[in-house]
Amino acid sequence: MPSQSDSASEFDRLKREALMNSGKNSPGDSSFLIPNTVFAFVGGIIAAYYIFKFVKASLNCIKVFCFGRSVSGAVDFNKLGEWAVVTGATDGIGKAYAEELAEEGLKICLISRSQDKLEQTAKEIEENSGVETKIIVMDFSDTTDESYNRIEEVLKDLDIAVLVNNVGMSFSYPENYIQYPIKSHIDMLNINCHSLLRMMHMVMPGMTARKRGAVINISSASGVSPTALLSSYGASKAFVLSLSKAVSTEILYGSNPNIIVQCVTPFFVKTKLAGIRKSSFFVPEPNYFAQCALNTVGVWDHTYGCLSHELQAAAIQLVPSFVSRIIVYRQLMAAKVRYLKKNKKAN
Ligand SMILES: NC(=O)c1ccc[n+]([C@@H]2O[C@H](COP(=O)([O-])OP(=O)(O)OC[C@H]3O[C@@H](n4cnc5c(N)ncnc54)[C@H](OP(=O)(O)O)[C@@H]3O)[C@@H](O)[C@H]2O)c1
Repeated sequence: MPSQSDSASEFDRLKREALMNSGKNSPGDSSFLIPNTVFAFVGGIIAAYYIFKFVKASLNCIKVFCFGRSVSGAVDFNKLGEWAVVTGATDGIGKAYAEELAEEGLKICLISRSQDKLEQTAKEIEENSGVETKIIVMDFSDTTDESYNRIEEVLKDLDIAVLVNNVGMSFSYPENYIQYPIKSHIDMLNINCHSLLRMMHMVMPGMTARKRGAVINISSASGVSPTALLSSYGASKAFVLSLSKAVSTEILYGSNPNIIVQCVTPFFVKTKLAGIRKSSFFVPEPNYFAQCALNTVGVWDHTYGCLSHELQAAAIQLVPSFVSRIIVYRQLMAAKVRYLKKNKKAN
């Protein structure tokens, strides 16, 4: 009777014969190593590609955010024209962009809804930077042609170097889509999207004719992936990001590559809209944020604006999107509960 080891070696012999007959080799043969080597080689190339990308992005971030405009390769705004036009310019990020561009020597046209705040901001800019200013009172929830014609009347003869589409509104507190008033959703679209469409369409033909100019569109990190409980805000910011990238591509590969269209998608910045009173590494002051973001104009057509926000974006990209969506939902739900509790106490 054959032993167990006899039948095993008989089985191995038959298997080797079968493999040789079918033109294949046994797993012990060296030719079986070829696929492994190929896999290792391809894996190595992919790993090297990602390491290269990571190192390149890190060096770029250091160059852009740590060494200022002379090293970053950002555009010289004075070569683009005389005026910067900033919407939502009396507070927060918009005011900071206006102040930083005035420091660069550009004349500033401020557009916002409160006349007294516009006059005050214009006065501060003139005193601090010694540049000329203009103000236009406009409530961007108003979408009529008459209102936009009024803006066009002031802007039509200006040599506009930079347009900053900054004006924006968000939810007054995180809320489910259907429980938030439809009027507020519509205002959000009109202020965040309609204004930007009209302003770009108004200003870019002049830039095209002069073959120079930059458009900076302020979106939000909430526009990069869907944000539950801030649904229409996030959606409006996704519109801004998508439109900016599309128009930037048209320009880059079209006939007028000298015009820049950049989209900025910040995380939290210390402003009224964010409702955060204390700044930190991750929640910068608006002027610091604007300085950093201006260093990237002409370098990147999409930026999170400053180093800490680029780092937050990189960290989020490492997490599967369904996980980050749940985390953000839970954080905003907690904020909603806190808001409702506080409001109940106040009433
Ligand atoms: N702060 C953040 O954490 C953050 C993060 C991501 C994205 N963003 C975006 O950054 C932009 C600026 O936000 P912010 O935080 O700087 O806001 P903010 O401090 O509240 O300032 C908003 C500015 O827009 C003006 N404005 C508001 N509603 C207007 C309207 N209907 N018509 C005309 N002007 C109006 C305000 O003028 P009045 O003072 O007269 O109201 C003010 O000058 C927004 O697009 C926002 O979505 C902000």
